[in-house]
Amino acid sequence: TASSRPVVLLAEKLAPSVMDAFGDEVEIRHVDGTDRAALLEAVADADALVVRSATQVDAEVLTAGKKLTVVGRAGVGLDNVEVPAATERGVLVVNAPTSNIVSAAEHAVALLLSVVRRVPAADQSLRGGEWKRSSYTGVELNGKTVGVVGLGKIGQLFAQRVAAFGTTLIAYDPYATAARAAQLGVELVSLDELLQRSDIISIHLPKTPETAGLIDADALAKVKQGAIVINAARGGLVDEQALADAVKEGRVGGAGVDVFVTEPTTESPLFGLPNVVVTPHLGASTSEAQDRAGTDVAHSVRLALRGDFVPDA
Ligand code: MLT
Repeated sequence: TASSRPVVLLAEKLAPSVMDAFGDEVEIRHVDGTDRAALLEAVADADALVVRSATQVDAEVLTAGKKLTVVGRAGVGLDNVEVPAATERGVLVVNAPTSNIVSAAEHAVALLLSVVRRVPAADQSLRGGEWKRSSYTGVELNGKTVGVVGLGKIGQLFAQRVAAFGTTLIAYDPYATAARAAQLGVELVSLDELLQRSDIISIHLPKTPETAGLIDADALAKVKQGAIVINAARGGLVDEQALADAVKEGRVGGAGVDVFVTEPTTESPLFGLPNVVVTPHLGASTSEAQDRAGTDVAHSVRLALRGDFVPDA
């Protein structure tokens, strides 16, 4: 009967593929995960809760979810889920760890090209009735040194893609193996060396207590004059105010930023600066990535609800 089916609560907008992937085995309910009161009420009857990055799944939500077996994160980052609090309550946390890595890497490249060729500013100027070629002189990527901070899955995909532009690649990642780096043609260096040598710095780290604020005012004081900073990873890895100051001073020549310390947001010290390109956390926003995130997470959540082993993707 319908009432005996496990209840899966979707707290954010997910690709339609997620419904097909769940099939009739479960009862799907919807709630707006950013509406705290509604979430706390709805989660009480849920066997599974599925979120993207906007819903904070903390101890309060996990306690309210008395029947929860599993929390599914339709994406990669788990910084909005308190995993230890879930584990304490016997709630499994599953994500879709490869669903959007290509999209994230491609978006970092999109931001980089937008910054170095001034695409958004030139677009705005031409639409505004100006034909001003000399104001939008860019720089080539060819021959530049690109520093990849975090050579994990996304950092590696980013490195492979920018290599095609004739760049020299260096990376900082205390967990990366020399063999993998060599395979990618990437030289592993310390963070200080990366900051000093890179013409372009792109961040590809998860946000953890260890990495939050890694690129702060001190770090930005070490970069090469005019370096470009790209962050399509997480807000707060780069200090927004410090980055805005460095751009204003001209030490940082430009920045491409997809993620912010508070989201959603329509205010940041970066928004007023001409050589900064911003997007509202669009790294994973492709039809392919959202389809994959939906189906992958639904698959893992179904296994967890049946009490089956959930393999790492
Ligand atoms: C992720 O961690 O998967 C991304 O931030 C994408 C998202 O959930 O929107």
